Amino acid sequence: MTDLEERTRPTRTEAVLARDAEHRSGLWDPDVVFVRGDGAVVVDAEGREYLDCMAGIAVASVGHGNARLARAIADQAERLIVCPQNLGNDTRTAFVERLFRHVPPPLNRVFLCNSGSEANEAALKWARVATGRRRFVAAKRGFSGRTLGVLPMTWEPKYREPFAPLGMEVTFVRYNDVDELRAAVDEETAAVLLEPVQGEGGIHAADPEYLRAARDITERTGAVLVFDEIQCGVGRTGTFLASEAYGVSADIVTLAKGLAGGVPIGAVLMTDAIAASMPKGGHGTTFGGNPLASAAALAVLEELDERGLMEHARAMGERLMQGIRGIGSERVREVRGRGLMIGVELKEKVAPVIAALRDAGVLTISGGATVIRFLPPLVITPAQVDEVVARVARVLAS
Ligand SMILES: Cc1ncc(COP(=O)(O)O)c(C=O)c1O
Repeated sequence: MTDLEERTRPTRTEAVLARDAEHRSGLWDPDVVFVRGDGAVVVDAEGREYLDCMAGIAVASVGHGNARLARAIADQAERLIVCPQNLGNDTRTAFVERLFRHVPPPLNRVFLCNSGSEANEAALKWARVATGRRRFVAAKRGFSGRTLGVLPMTWEPKYREPFAPLGMEVTFVRYNDVDELRAAVDEETAAVLLEPVQGEGGIHAADPEYLRAARDITERTGAVLVFDEIQCGVGRTGTFLASEAYGVSADIVTLAKGLAGGVPIGAVLMTDAIAASMPKGGHGTTFGGNPLASAAALAVLEELDERGLMEHARAMGERLMQGIRGIGSERVREVRGRGLMIGVELKEKVAPVIAALRDAGVLTISGGATVIRFLPPLVITPAQVDEVVARVARVLAS
């Protein structure tokens, strides 16, 4: 190869993206290619390492390249991948048993599916059939998913408006405003859906009295209370369910994202009464509860328990928040969060800062225009947290 050829040869990144461009949906325009990971580190096609504070948006709960997870998936793939939920499966049973060690009663039942949106759609169906009602209440800044069945519950107008009318009666209330919630919920409300800690909306934790009031109001009116813990659940905030820390129990809780460490999964946890309201065959899904996802989720739960990852998430979250607060940057309005679900609100738009952080080797994601979200794998180490803080400090100083 001549010197000129060498210099003009496309990088591995360019080569992959050029091949990819022809068939892309057009929804995104990636400019980086990741090829592997280890714990809280991911590596791109040029061999550059990044501290991953995004984790595929709260998905890589037990870290990249997790040996137990990889082994569980490989072993299960060799044994049995396919087994629908109308037939029993030993791995699914082991996973569900272990799941309910972490989920307090009266949530006794689970429907397994494949994503967060699918879990929320199922929750809405159960709420409708359990109450015979069709009106819903959701929170401003809330995010419930983008499939047509849950899109009406997602607040951000830019996600909903291109597809209007959506044909569902949804009232959006101000998050953490008890009076608005009380005024919106009545005897015609099928369900109130809330994230105990809002994720996409910019990391806002519910006030304890808000969730308690939501419980009282729904009980009084006969509406179903749904907690969407798709982003905040599975140990990320330091307890298995974020709502546990509030001492408030919902009728339905939805999980997804981190539950199987990256293998697609969704779960709808519900009370006996809610479960019993659905007619036999009233809902279903082909891949839900498949042995592969079940094996992965079981491995995630073992990792959480045996490595103490929930306590670790609490400690690392505190360290990261204190560290970023300690930078004392004038550009920061607030640092907030629970465990490893952290929002850094700036006094400016965050997109250029997120790009600069990526250049500095830290992957983050926005939560609205002015919030940087930090959602690292729960296995992030103290030294990695300190390194993230050091790089954030450098970027904010520049
Ligand atoms: C709180 C919450 N609910 C629902 C969803 C939708 O999940 P999925 O993208 O798996 O459909 C998300 C995804 O970001 C979420 O954060």
